[in-house]
Amino acid sequence: MSERKQPYVISEEPGDKYYCACGKSETQPYCDGAHERLNTGKTPTHVVIEKKKSVAWCGCRKSENMPFCDGTHTRL
Ligand code: FES
Repeated sequence: MSERKQPYVISEEPGDKYYCACGKSETQPYCDGAHERLNTGKTPTHVVIEKKKSVAWCGCRKSENMPFCDGTHTRL
């Protein structure tokens, strides 16, 4: 599973985003369909970004506010 000790901080444009929930995507933090190819049993998390803003997507996969960073990575 793809894990790192920092979030993916991205300036997001409005629209639909699909956060990789399986950790196998090669285009983190977004789903690239790997969950189906690898039969992980997981599906991406759909998020609608309403307006342009900076988003801190969870990189450690331990956030209690998935798919967003809640600072948990600093305690790992
Ligand atoms: S590739 Fe990970 S959820 Fe789709």
